[in-house]
Amino acid sequence: MMQDQVIVVSGGASGIGAEVTARLLAEGARVVVADLTAVSPTDRVLGVPCDITQPTQCDAAAEAAITHFGRLDGLVNCAGISKPHDSLTLPPADWARMVDIQLNGAFYLAQACAKRMQDAGAIVFITSTNAEAAFPRRAAYCCAKAGVAMLTKVLAIEWAERGIRVNAVGPAYVATEMTQRNIAAGNVNEAQIKARIPLGRLAKPADVADAVSFLLGPQASFITGHSLYVDGGWLAYGYF
Ligand SMILES: NC(=O)c1ccc[n+]([C@@H]2O[C@H](COP(=O)([O-])OP(=O)(O)OC[C@H]3O[C@@H](n4cnc5c(N)ncnc54)[C@H](O)[C@@H]3O)[C@@H](O)[C@H]2O)c1
Repeated sequence: MMQDQVIVVSGGASGIGAEVTARLLAEGARVVVADLTAVSPTDRVLGVPCDITQPTQCDAAAEAAITHFGRLDGLVNCAGISKPHDSLTLPPADWARMVDIQLNGAFYLAQACAKRMQDAGAIVFITSTNAEAAFPRRAAYCCAKAGVAMLTKVLAIEWAERGIRVNAVGPAYVATEMTQRNIAAGNVNEAQIKARIPLGRLAKPADVADAVSFLLGPQASFITGHSLYVDGGWLAYGYF
């Protein structure tokens, strides 16, 4: 349970982040949603406009947790984009934007939050099976996610002395708006994906929220620097 804990959730306005926010609220936490998109405030939800590629906005979001709720205990970094493109013709600006959001922004927000955690805290980055498995037309995405998986390990060993645990959750395809957009754009074939996943379905946002809740909470108190893949067996599968 996360009773009275204060957690920053980036990307909390949509998809995985929205599900994580709902889960944390159900477990008694208070949540600062840091997103480009506004969310409706309640007595336990504060929405802060934040582009995580901007360090000053990350600082402001983390500081809002202190000024509004009086403390900061955790971060779940769910903000992200997906924009598959052939590598041969990928515009450098698109490469840079992907790395800026998926890798640089993850670091800026983690740094801003860790500075404000007192003696203990937990950070969970949402990575992807693409931190481990190469998909075509996703060079920047795969490299950025692999970078976050390494960042998870580096920050875990550096910030252990501050009592901060740092872990990652890496989903395979999750049934969110991001995936729907990719299906609609012809970047993803849903039937092929289901056939490739041993458990035979896309992940539900709730599957990801389960893993996040576990890694944030006391049952994971001796787990740090770990990437937990919520993938229905995708990464284990190496047959046809
Ligand atoms: N959906 C999947 O199949 C899947 C699989 C593996 C990993 N992921 C990862 O999970 C994360 C969430 O994906 P989702 O499916 O929930 O996507 P989504 O599009 O539903 O939600 C992403 C959220 O991030 C926000 N966002 C985007 N850029 C931002 C920025 N610069 N600053 C702050 N907020 C920003 C958006 O406004 C949106 O609310 C992403 O990092 C994605 O790469 C998704």
